[in-house]
Amino acid sequence: MAGKLWGGRFRKKTDELMEDFSSSLPFDWRLYRADIKAGIAHARILREGGYLTAGERDRIIRALQEIEKEIAAGKLDLNSGYEDIHSLILAMLSEKTGVLGEKLHAGRSRNDLVVLDTRIYLKEEINGLIELIRGLQSALVEKGIEYRDLIMPGYTHLQHAQSVLVPHHLLAYVEMLARDRSRLEDARKRMDILPAGSAAMGGSNLKLDQKLLAKLLEFKGLASNSLDAVGDRDFIVETISALALIGMHISRLAGELVLWSTFEFNFVEFDEAYSTGSSFLPQKKNPDPAELVRGKAGRLYGNLLSVLVALKGLPLAYNRDLQEDKEPLFDSLDTVRDSLAIMAGVIGTIKFNAGPLQASAEKGFSSAPDLAEYLVDKGVPFHQAHRRVGELVAWAIKNGKSPEDITLDDLRKFSPAFDGPALKLMTPLASIKAKKTIGSTAPALVRHQLNRWRKKLGG
Ligand code: ARG
Repeated sequence: MAGKLWGGRFRKKTDELMEDFSSSLPFDWRLYRADIKAGIAHARILREGGYLTAGERDRIIRALQEIEKEIAAGKLDLNSGYEDIHSLILAMLSEKTGVLGEKLHAGRSRNDLVVLDTRIYLKEEINGLIELIRGLQSALVEKGIEYRDLIMPGYTHLQHAQSVLVPHHLLAYVEMLARDRSRLEDARKRMDILPAGSAAMGGSNLKLDQKLLAKLLEFKGLASNSLDAVGDRDFIVETISALALIGMHISRLAGELVLWSTFEFNFVEFDEAYSTGSSFLPQKKNPDPAELVRGKAGRLYGNLLSVLVALKGLPLAYNRDLQEDKEPLFDSLDTVRDSLAIMAGVIGTIKFNAGPLQASAEKGFSSAPDLAEYLVDKGVPFHQAHRRVGELVAWAIKNGKSPEDITLDDLRKFSPAFDGPALKLMTPLASIKAKKTIGSTAPALVRHQLNRWRKKLGG
């Protein structure tokens, strides 16, 4: 294939190891569609500026379209010695169109092109991610609807705290994912700025209709500073940071599922399609997808950190260090994409075990806060109410009494403000029904949230 894009100044061949070391082609080939889209739009504005005839523009566009088809069909030699996908596509273009191909790169540098391509690519990727987030949210909401009346213990410090509805717990993740979605949308908004025209770093002398280019490539605005435009990787940091947060959220969900699927908890059962066995222990059914999702949060954090560190202290504008943004970015995108899809499958097929959940919710005096607030309603100062109920729990534990053994007389020994209805509060169902605040696990509110989310997600 044709030579390098910068051969003129050089007399010697590049060292072979250096060539491999510097090539981003093995990973940035994924930008090929974006690069071709950018090339086609650039050909149009070169024509508008008078640098191409209409016929030349059309030949370039046709050749680029052919190249896109060829690459999609697998005609891509990752070891062809090209420095990156941008050089390779220009070389393929020259091969097809001769000297005409050499005209396309006018007014551009790979420094602004790589930012442009990555933004085009990422804006689309984010659309796909948002769809996957929606898929997992839908799976959580549908599972919540399936188990809408099921009560479970809610925890703080992994100790029983207050009873909650299973859908209330699941909806907590729906909320986290909604913030994840809005973070991605936010990042997408800020990356919607066209860097083209910045060329290597200081701009181009050619007449390039950047507004038209922005319109053709569906960008909202133009970069106001060429140095910033080619040196900026905030949009990558923002995206992989949002991806790291998604990884963190779903690793928490995954971690809970691993715990809940143990013999000790026995709250859930994984579907066999999302479980694996052991090569030695015939009885095993392991929750591997959840463990993997939990583990993958680590690499997502690592990717974020490696880009942040690569950027630290870099002088303006483009530096080759910036090429180090791509592998972490692509890895984070792949990892989160797969993890979201897997978690949607896990949640969609998982079964909750009503017996153990109900039995566990009845243990641990989770209605103690309800008793304390009952006293507050009767006019007892909160701290005093808290103390009295604490004493009641200590007494019950000491005397081997469960909540259902406690009588009104027992309650009244700790506070004369207790009366008949207090006793009825001491079940998980009564506890959740007594909740009044917005955002609480009160059944009517949870049902409302399930309906609201179902409508919003359109599933
Ligand atoms: N492959 C490079 C990157 O990903 C873009 C090329 C810029 N190279 C250069 N020598 N100016 O950042």
